[in-house]
Amino acid sequence: MAGIDSLDTLLEQELRDTYDAEKQLTKALPKLAKKATAEALKTAFEQHLRQTEQHIERLEQLFEALELPVKSKKCDGMRNLIKEGDDMLSEAEDDATRDALMIASAQKVEHYEIAAYGTMRTWASVLGHGEVAQLLEETLEEEKETDRNLTEIAEAFVNQASAEERDEEEPQSSGRQMRNGRVAASRGGRQKAADWGSGRSRGSSRAGSSRSRSR
Ligand SMILES: [Fe+2]
Ligand SMILES: [Fe+2]
Repeated sequence: MAGIDSLDTLLEQELRDTYDAEKQLTKALPKLAKKATAEALKTAFEQHLRQTEQHIERLEQLFEALELPVKSKKCDGMRNLIKEGDDMLSEAEDDATRDALMIASAQKVEHYEIAAYGTMRTWASVLGHGEVAQLLEETLEEEKETDRNLTEIAEAFVNQASAEERDEEEPQSSGRQMRNGRVAASRGGRQKAADWGSGRSRGSSRAGSSRSRSR
């Protein structure tokens, strides 16, 4: 890491890296929202896109607060996470499996961001930039909230898959089976997952509350 000789420089480099990572996400999230089948997942991606746009604006405020040029540096970590997610998605054979893969891939992204914002918040705090640390903390909390929301959606999928499996064990079942141990993906399962999403907009209210808390 030639050229990095202080915590100030580390913070600046990490801000640039994260600025690029967030920008990459504004391109990836609309594609995920388009591919998602379950309404709850589609909504979660759409809401996190708007939140990500706010994270970009917040980073721009941070550069200015620190009297640094607003610059990005290519974030290979995020590029590879997105690429890995895309590669896996291209192998999904049905809607439910694709949704489950998108949740997994989005959660990896959120954890990457949580690590970055947590680190930057600590560095800013150590360097005595209290207001900067506070703004980084706000984004950190929103990333954590998004991660929790995705976990809830994933759990609903797993519950749905189990219910589906039980249904299929009934003698009158039409014989749709879990394929190769994958997530249940019958038409009924997809519809119930979609019903879950439209019937309970927990994702929207949680993400909304986290946004309002940030103001
Ligand atoms: Fe973000
Ligand atoms: Fe995020």
